[in-house]
Amino acid sequence: MPHGTTTPPRPTHDLRQGVPDAASFPRTAWLAAARRALTAAPNEAFGPGDPQGRIELRRALAEYLSRARGVRTTPDRIVICSGFAHALRLLYGGVGGPSRGVLRGPLAVEAYGLPFHRELLHGAGVRTVPLEIDENGADVGELGEVRALKAVLLTPAHQFPTGGPLHSERRAQAVDWARAHDGLVLEDDYDGEFRYDREPVGAVQGLDPERVVYLGSLSKSLSPAIRLGWMVLPAHLVGPVLAVKGQREAWASALDQLTLADFLASGHYDRHVRRTRQRYRARRDQLLAALSAHAPHIRATGIAAGLHAVLRLPAGTESDALRAAAHQGLALDGLGPFRHPGAAGLAPDGLVVGYATPPDHAYAAALAALCRALPAPD
Ligand SMILES: Cc1ncc(COP(=O)(O)O)c(C=O)c1O
Repeated sequence: MPHGTTTPPRPTHDLRQGVPDAASFPRTAWLAAARRALTAAPNEAFGPGDPQGRIELRRALAEYLSRARGVRTTPDRIVICSGFAHALRLLYGGVGGPSRGVLRGPLAVEAYGLPFHRELLHGAGVRTVPLEIDENGADVGELGEVRALKAVLLTPAHQFPTGGPLHSERRAQAVDWARAHDGLVLEDDYDGEFRYDREPVGAVQGLDPERVVYLGSLSKSLSPAIRLGWMVLPAHLVGPVLAVKGQREAWASALDQLTLADFLASGHYDRHVRRTRQRYRARRDQLLAALSAHAPHIRATGIAAGLHAVLRLPAGTESDALRAAAHQGLALDGLGPFRHPGAAGLAPDGLVVGYATPPDHAYAAALAALCRALPAPD
């Protein structure tokens, strides 16, 4: 029966990308860190907060980011915020942030990205210019062609969502462009710790801390519910970002910041990342094994990394696959909506499969349902 003629059942499996495994949240270790942090907090921690963020957290992050991500910074270059989206608002202004941010002008972005981030930027009046993506990542060679361009937003460790890394020559090329044009590279390192086939590649920020704004977040590594993120800024941007943040911290709870500082300094963050890295790696392997057994004609793109994979589909089959998935009880996203509406050419068909969230007992069934929803070989 054609799938369009009946109402799909309520989804029983969620394979949408976006969130880490909630069941892996380290409740006991987080609670212990919160208890220690509250006990040790000086009285002034319970007063109005410093908009730059707690020094305890900035110190812990400077150490961690240098060791784990190759970020070159000192605590005074770090500004705590409530996640990547908040950082974008501080940089460009708009709804939910200051009316004006610190940066002006058009922003080059990858031809694929999160629609929410594009909407946020467009809501702030920012014109985004899409860069095509090939096997070496975003085509940063196009940057010099865009008039008045002052910044480019990239996901160099693991292009979101298509999954390739930015090639080392392109990383250098992006930084060279920024140096030559008084520009900035905004580095979204949303899942940089989750690389499974090798040690994670260090942040582009390490190439030039005065030309790269490094943006990190707990949303993939721990939980999007905590709402904590960090900006590692070139020296000349620290003052302007603090000026738009205002005189008192209005977003990031000082007590959560102190808890995270303890969680990092006590090694629990490293332990949690190690544990979840193994879990997501096994999840990805299971997805690839299911494909090779039941749908060998369908390829997952990108590197062994992250919390999601993109499956490339034959041209013209994405919406049928999504309909079939809904009938299999799967919540699943197509690749199409992630493509910038201004990107040239035809969008290839695909599915974005998040493998972090299904519970262990349901994952095999979710994969079986996914394979049944995929188009048959020609
Ligand atoms: C591409 C990308 N960047 C950044 C983030 C983090 O966003 P936030 O810190 O606002 O939750 C996400 C989602 O977790 C994402 O998918």
